[in-house]
Amino acid sequence: MLAKKVDVDGLSDRERANTDLVSARYGVQTVPKYEMPEAGMPGWLTRQVISRELQLDGNPLLNLASFVTTYMDESADRLFAETLSKNYIDQDEYPQTQEIHNRCVNMLSRLFNAPESETSVGTGTVGSSEAIHLAGLAFKWKWRERRQKEGKPTDKPNLVVGANVQVCWEKFARYFDVELRCVPVTHERYVLGVPEALELVDENTIGVAAILGSTYTGEYEPVKELNDALVELNEKTGWEVPIHVDGASGGFVAPFLTPELEWDFRLPLVKSINASGHKFGLVYPGIGWVIWRDESELPEGLIFHVNYLGGDQPTFNLNFSKGASQMLAQYFNFLHLGREGYTAIMQTADSNASYLAEHLARAGNHIMSTPKTVPLVAWSMPQEDRFTVYDVSDRLRARGWIVPAYTMPDNATDLALLRVVVRDDCTRDLLDLLIADIDRSVVELGQEHGQQSRSASVAKDKKSQGDC
Ligand SMILES: Cc1ncc(COP(=O)(O)O)c(C=O)c1O
Repeated sequence: MLAKKVDVDGLSDRERANTDLVSARYGVQTVPKYEMPEAGMPGWLTRQVISRELQLDGNPLLNLASFVTTYMDESADRLFAETLSKNYIDQDEYPQTQEIHNRCVNMLSRLFNAPESETSVGTGTVGSSEAIHLAGLAFKWKWRERRQKEGKPTDKPNLVVGANVQVCWEKFARYFDVELRCVPVTHERYVLGVPEALELVDENTIGVAAILGSTYTGEYEPVKELNDALVELNEKTGWEVPIHVDGASGGFVAPFLTPELEWDFRLPLVKSINASGHKFGLVYPGIGWVIWRDESELPEGLIFHVNYLGGDQPTFNLNFSKGASQMLAQYFNFLHLGREGYTAIMQTADSNASYLAEHLARAGNHIMSTPKTVPLVAWSMPQEDRFTVYDVSDRLRARGWIVPAYTMPDNATDLALLRVVVRDDCTRDLLDLLIADIDRSVVELGQEHGQQSRSASVAKDKKSQGDC
């Protein structure tokens, strides 16, 4: 987030500093906001002042906009606190931390079905965004090496994606000088279309990215179909266009909910996969992962070897220092939950998502998400409604719920949606309360806009279906 310097000279004393009743009791009358105070205050008091201010934030449990974990087991919380002082990059000083990182990469490469005949490599990252930047760089370097060997120009790399990609792909393209070729969505297809993607591929394509699943609707992109079509195209043209799977959310869902679905290293052109440990990996923010199916996919020139912390340390990350706690908490989840635990959680989240979707569909909405993908519910409202998704989102916000409203990307920007991510802390009780508040909001908004029909149909529907 970019923050701006505030011109404090233009502010009144009241605007420059906060008053805090508790700190005032202990002689600290005001707490400056934009300038560091001359004198400090005791730690216990400082914590109270900051904690009280943070209570004005939204409640993470009611933040149904976010894919990111808001709950971990108490024992994980303890492990987290115990390891806060460890720097993840200090491999020589914390060899066991490094060993656990290696184990996580191993477990993930097997979870993503990397062939045993190949040697997977991977790294923990701050989140999927960093993971995607690293995977994109590896594609760009591999493509450049190939082109240089062939004596061909290397000044116009491009990457093919669906217009529904998350902003991190646009960042990668802009920061690393790669043309982003976006396949627009349509009202019949809200994810990447394979024939349309192939039309954009040429000799300068460093790779095609497929999303498992789309941030907009949770839908999985057709990775197998893309793989098969690209195999054919590569054979025909002599190109070597690879696939990266953006499994930010689905990377930790599909292996448990739909293990039979082929989207991962079972497909030969899938060279790298990212997944957010802090989304359905069920760890607090921020941890992500990127795994390459084989070490040959990672050009040696991208790896830095540093020796100023001890022995030789190979690294491929955008930053250097960061906390090790998130990575250790990921290992905690792998051991604590195991495959069975993750499967049970994903099945429950999926079934809770269906529960919410069924209610919303009965109330006349159009459900845009699909079961057995990322557990979320995305819906658009009936065209007859005289109020908008933004009105509903605002009304829900007034009751504490954070339910985002947004439009689809090009070429379906006329379609506006609401979305609820059904995380593992999203219980049926919580959903019942949400449903009651959505119904109430719709009824109130309908009345305010002189529209009776939807409230009446919801009431009629409840009578005939029994209360859900
Ligand atoms: C499909 C997809 N890719 C990438 C990202 C970025 O992930 P992160 O927040 O872990 O950096 C997101 C975040 O929502 C996402 O949904």
